[in-house]
Parts: sequence; C-alpha cells; structure tokens
Amino acid sequence: MDLGLTGRVFIVTGGYSGIGEAIVREAAAEGAVPVIVGRSGERGKNLEAELRGRGYECLAVQAELAQPSECQKTVAETLARYGRIDGLVNNAGLNDGVGLENGDPERFLESIRQNVYHYYCMAHYALEALKKSRGNIVNVSSKTAVTGQGGTSAYVVSKAGQLGLAREWAVELLPYGIRVNAVVPAEVWTPLYERWVNTFPNPEEKLAGITKNIPLGRRMTTSQEIAWATLFLLSDRAAHITGQHWFVDGGYTHLDRAI
Ligand SMILES: NC(=O)c1ccc[n+]([C@@H]2O[C@H](COP(=O)([O-])OP(=O)(O)OC[C@H]3O[C@@H](n4cnc5c(N)ncnc54)[C@H](O)[C@@H]3O)[C@@H](O)[C@H]2O)c1
Repeated sequence: MDLGLTGRVFIVTGGYSGIGEAIVREAAAEGAVPVIVGRSGERGKNLEAELRGRGYECLAVQAELAQPSECQKTVAETLARYGRIDGLVNNAGLNDGVGLENGDPERFLESIRQNVYHYYCMAHYALEALKKSRGNIVNVSSKTAVTGQGGTSAYVVSKAGQLGLAREWAVELLPYGIRVNAVVPAEVWTPLYERWVNTFPNPEEKLAGITKNIPLGRRMTTSQEIAWATLFLLSDRAAHITGQHWFVDGGYTHLDRAI
C-alpha cells in the first residue's frame, strides 16, 4: 500500500531521539518532509545533514517547547521554508517522576508545561496551516494515561490530557476536515525508557519482569512500529479515522497478562 506521503510536510516534536526520531526517519523514507523539532541544535543539525546526505528533504528546528513563543517560532520557520503544514506529530515528553509523595505543586505545574502544554500550543499555532491543507494531528500519549504508574502524577495527567485533547480536537476540527488521533505506546526501548528503567535498583530484573508480561511476542515494541502506525494515521489511507486512541503495545494494556 502506497501511503501517498510524497512531499507532505510533517512537524515532529521531540524528533531528535527515540520514537520521534523513528517517525522522522520513516517519514523521510516515505518521501515526506519531516520538520525535526527538539532542544539540541547539534543533534538536529546532525540528523538533518544525515538525511539530506541520503537525498531526503527535511528541516531541523531548535526549540524549547515549554515556551509558547518557541512553538510559534517552530510553526513560523516551517511555513517560511515550505509554505505548508500537512501534519503535526505532538511527541516530545519526559517521564519525570513528579508524584504525590516525591513532588510538589511547583514541580507538578512545570512538568505539565513540559509534557502537555506544548501539545496545545503547537496545535494552536499550526491550526491555520492545517485548515488550509486539511491536514491532521497525531498526539503520542502513553498507556500510563489509562493504567497509572505510581510516582508520576504530572506525567500521567499530561498523557491522559493528550488522549482527551485528541478526542476534543477531533470534534472541534470536524468542520475543517482535520483528523486528530492518538498513538499510545507502552514499552518502547528509547533514551527516555532507558533513563526510567535505570531508576530501579536492578534495571535488568525490572526489564525482564516487564517484557515477560507483554502478550504478543514477549518483547518490547520498537520505535519503528510506533512510527508506522503514526504514518498510517497521518496518511489519506486513514481518511475516515478520527478521535481514536491506538494502542501499539503488543496487547500489554488490554489483554490478560496472566495468559
Ligand atoms: N519509550 C516508551 O516506552 C514510551 C512509552 C509511552 C509513551 N512514550 C511517549 O513517547 C514520546 C517520546 O518518548 P521517547 O521514549 O522517544 O523519549 P526520548 O527521550 O527518547 O525523546 C523525547 C525527545 O523529546 C525532547 N523533548 C522533551 N521535552 C521537550 C521540550 N519541552 N522541548 C523540546 N524538546 C523536548 C527530548 O529532548 C527528546 O529528544 C513521549 O511523549 C513519551 O511520553 C514513550
């Protein structure tokens, strides 16, 4: 199946590493034009240079997304270069361990800023361009939105908010033909995941305990598998799919783990 993504301009936040990087690489391979957004200018430029070296069009934008002005700048730079936006992938995030017992109100608010505030800001600033292209939005959330995790109040409220916003925006943007969906990973090996698992006294034991409970294949999901689902949702092949929460997790969230 040809996804028909040639020349489509997709902004991918947190596109320098992990899931975002996989979305960027797969988008480029499909002929789309990824705009790679993240904090590290150097890593962005390196990825941009690598992809360009392989003949792919792309643009790296350095931005601290917790600042609304940086979200606005990201959209402006994209439009200045390409004149259009066909899709927004809200993906940047940080599982930062701000809980009830191990957090405080200030850190809670700051974590929400880092995790969900920019999902709203990016959609807000990209909206006019998305209306013109009849583009669409994918929010990358987390299974913790529906299962909880413990010790991560702010991250979980952000992830649940991203699911709520996918449905809310799907309704609000119906008149413009803009589709909005969420992709929901559970256990994907990325720099974020590695940092999280290393917070446990015995990371290897923790990891083995998790993977043995992933029903399909007793393995983690790959970043590429999240990317493929995201690209399908971004494409016209998903033209009649909106307001959906897609769990790409080998059955981890919904199937009986005692099987
Ligand atoms: N890895 C998993 O198992 C897993 C599971 C569930 C959900 N997720 C979600 O997937 C998304 C990507 O996670 P990942 O595992 O690839 O993480 P990652 O740490 O590998 O990549 C996230 C990227 O986003 C960037 N970023 C974060 N906040 C930013 C900000 N305010 N401004 C600019 N850049 C920012 C980081 O610098 C990093 O490059 C996140 O939303 C995460 O919550 C991941």
